[in-house]
Amino acid sequence: MAILITGGAGFIGSNFVYEWVNHSNEQIINLDKLTYAGNLENLKALKNQGQHIFVQGDIANQELVGQLLEKYQPRAIINFAAASHVDRSIKGPEDFVMTNVVGTFKLLEAARHYYSNLTDQNKAQFRFLHVSTDEVYGSLLPTENGFTEKNPYQPNSPYSASKASSDHFVRAYYHTYGLPVLTTNCSNNYGPFQFPEKLLPLIIHNALNEKPLPVYGDGTQVRDWLYVTDHCQAIMTVLENGQLGEVYNVGGFNEQKNIEVVKSICSHLDKKRPRAQGKSYSELITFVTDRPGHDKRYAIDATKINKNLDWAPKETFQTGLEKTVNWYLDNQAWTQSVTSGEYRKWVDTNYAARG
Ligand code: NAD
Ligand code: DAU
Repeated sequence: MAILITGGAGFIGSNFVYEWVNHSNEQIINLDKLTYAGNLENLKALKNQGQHIFVQGDIANQELVGQLLEKYQPRAIINFAAASHVDRSIKGPEDFVMTNVVGTFKLLEAARHYYSNLTDQNKAQFRFLHVSTDEVYGSLLPTENGFTEKNPYQPNSPYSASKASSDHFVRAYYHTYGLPVLTTNCSNNYGPFQFPEKLLPLIIHNALNEKPLPVYGDGTQVRDWLYVTDHCQAIMTVLENGQLGEVYNVGGFNEQKNIEVVKSICSHLDKKRPRAQGKSYSELITFVTDRPGHDKRYAIDATKINKNLDWAPKETFQTGLEKTVNWYLDNQAWTQSVTSGEYRKWVDTNYAARG
């Protein structure tokens, strides 16, 4: 038995590979294009290397995906691959359309063809699980309830619009072709191997390098933070027990203002890696020009997955943040290796004009 995942050299995908190998003997085929966000270093410490087969390639390459499906006959596809950073989608939306919309469509086409040739027994087992985001639901007012699976789609950034489009294609393939799909819409993840363009690793990286800690706008935007292995376990739960055609929202029951998150990181670092002369890292906090169209608040109502599939996060924000900060302190060589020339170019592009 095998599963095929896409984007397994990125942040959530590589954490998923570790979780998979720890929980199952089933082979895991990992198709990843290795964009700037994909890094094979992430998978170096895998214990059972033979269980994991890596293939470099694009999800939009339908022929390649078709060949992999024929060769490995997986019982499931899990689609993690995406262009994932909102600020990059604002600077250059095309990659987001090409991977998130066209790529997902091509992957669905390859899956549809493969599925149609399976035996009835294998058809009954097969699943296409699409990993998506809470950002498709848009922004909440401070007093509104968290997003349920019934909230209307109101994407506000090119990133969330492209993910919303991919979700609609996934849904359509269930209703039109009977492809056995599942979709998860998750809130903000944090943890090991997150590329330092995203808030938590960026703040840790800048702090350790005595650089300004950029907070967009006034820092009062709210996100619902979930430790990455809790997300991976939610995906495994949905894969095994989710109802076909259904959507499951996944969240951390943990809303935080950005400024609170940044201050919490600073106080962890103050204890773990004190700065010279008793200064606090929080003195490096710098308010910068806001993200255009910045969504004010995301929050997930995860009642459905909690009640129907008995999933709940194991980490609190305190335990998860401590693990995360410790991981980045212990793995500075990793951060060093991914903050290459391309990274520095992005930092200049994104932050120079913010003042
Ligand atoms: P990431 O940017 O860290 O990793 C994406 C991976 O996909 C990389 O390894 C990259 O090389 C690969 N990839 C990109 N384009 C590809 C293509 N055309 N073909 C094959 N591989 C390609 O992203 P992430 O944070 O790990 O997110 C994974 C998935 O989870 C995405 O679909 C994202 O929308 C979703 N998601 C992320 C979060 C979060 O907080 N990070 C929350 C909810 C949902
Ligand atoms: O909600 C799920 C989404 O979470 C995922 O679908 C996305 O792939 C993932 O990137 C993430 O999107 P966000 O835009 O919420 O994450 P990011 O880490 O980029 O930003 C988190 C918040 O912090 C957001 O309100 C913007 C703010 N921010 C971000 C950066 C990079 C800052 O204030 N300063 C920064 O330098």
